Amino acid sequence: MSLTLLAIETSCDETSVAVVTDGRRIHSNVVASQVALHARTGGVVPEVAARAHLRWMVPVLEEACATAGVTDVRDLDGIAVTQGPGLAGSLLVGITMARTLAWDTGLPLVPVNHLEGHIRAAWLLDPGEPDRPAPAFPLVALVVSGGHTFLVEQADELTYRLLGQTVDDAAGEAFDKVGRLLGLPYPGGPAIMAAAARAARHDRRLPRAWMGDTGDFSFSGLKTAVRRMVIDELVARDALGDPDEPDGGRLPGDVVDEIAWAFQDSVVDVLATKTLRAAAHARARTIILGGGVAANRVLRERVAAGAHDLGVPLVVPRPALCTDNGAMIGAAGYRRFLAGTRADHDVEARPSWKLGVPRT
Ligand code: KG4
Ligand code: ZN
Repeated sequence: MSLTLLAIETSCDETSVAVVTDGRRIHSNVVASQVALHARTGGVVPEVAARAHLRWMVPVLEEACATAGVTDVRDLDGIAVTQGPGLAGSLLVGITMARTLAWDTGLPLVPVNHLEGHIRAAWLLDPGEPDRPAPAFPLVALVVSGGHTFLVEQADELTYRLLGQTVDDAAGEAFDKVGRLLGLPYPGGPAIMAAAARAARHDRRLPRAWMGDTGDFSFSGLKTAVRRMVIDELVARDALGDPDEPDGGRLPGDVVDEIAWAFQDSVVDVLATKTLRAAAHARARTIILGGGVAANRVLRERVAAGAHDLGVPLVVPRPALCTDNGAMIGAAGYRRFLAGTRADHDVEARPSWKLGVPRT
C-alpha cells in the first residue's frame, strides 16, 4: 500500500509545499523563493522572511494541491512539516498551517528535522523519472547551505551520527559574505562559481582550516584572509576608500575572478577532502551531497572524482532539490511516519534542533 504525504517547509526563506508518495515520488513541489526580497539587504532578515511566508503559505499550498491533482487533503495519508532547525518566526508559519490542516482533516501530523530532509532529498524521483535503487547504507552525507554545514554518517533508515559541523559560518554564508566583499551580486555562491570559472590564473592561495583530524569546519579565518587580500590589492592601486568597508568591486575584473577562484578552491578542498575521508573511514556504500552549495560544480566534480576512486556511488540531487523544498520534507516525513512519529496538535518550533547523536 502506498502512502502519500503533504509536506510543508518554511524553515528559512523558501515557502514550499509538496505532495510525495512513499518518500520518493514527487507529484508536486512548489517553492516560493524570497531570494529577490533578501537581495536588497544582502541576506535574510528574519521578520521579513516570516511575513513573506505568511503572504505565500496559502497560495503555495493551493498550487501544490492543484498540480498534484489533490482536490481534498483528506484523500492524503498525513501531513509532514519542518519543525526545525531554522528561524523561529518562519518555522511557526509552516507549523501553524500544518497544525490547522491536521486539526481540520484529522490526518496525522509528522514533525520533520529539516537537516534530515536535506539528506533524504537523495531519495526523490521527479514525476516520470525512471525508478532507481535507493541509496545504500551506511552512507556519508555532506550538507552545505547558507544556514548549515555538517557531515553525518547514516547507519540505517533512522540512525545518524554527526561527524562534524561548522564552528562559525556556514559554507554558503561564507560564499555570500565573500561575494559581497568582492562586489559580486547576492547570493554569492553562484556569482563566485561563475567568476572562478572565468579566472585565467590559478596561482593565488588562501589558507585551509583543517581543524585537526576532526570532521569540523571553519570558514571565518578564510573570510578574513580574503578580506586582507582585497585590501592589499586595493592599497596597491591606491583605491582603498573606507578601510572598514573594502570594496572588491573597485578591483579589475580579472583580479576579482582570481580571488574568487582561490576562495572556492580552499572551500571545496576542505569540504571534499573531509567528505571523502569520512566515507573511506565509514566504509560508506553511498555518498550524498545536499544543500544549496551542492549546486557548486567544482565541489560536485571533486567529490565525484574521489568517490569514483573509492568505488562508492555519489548521489547529488538536482539543484532545485538541494536547496530548501517541501519534497525533501515529504521524503524524510515518510520514514518518520512509518516509524510511528506523530506530533500533538500543540507541536512547537524547534529552532536549534540537531540531527543525530553528537560525536563520541
Ligand atoms: O540551501 P539553500 O538554498 O538555502 C539555505 O538553506 O541556506 O542554500 C543557499 C546557499 C547560499 O549561501 C548560496 O550562496 C549557496 O547556497 N549557493 C552556492 C551555489 N549556489 C548556491 N554556493 C556555491 N556555489 C554555488 N553554485
Ligand atoms: Zn536548508
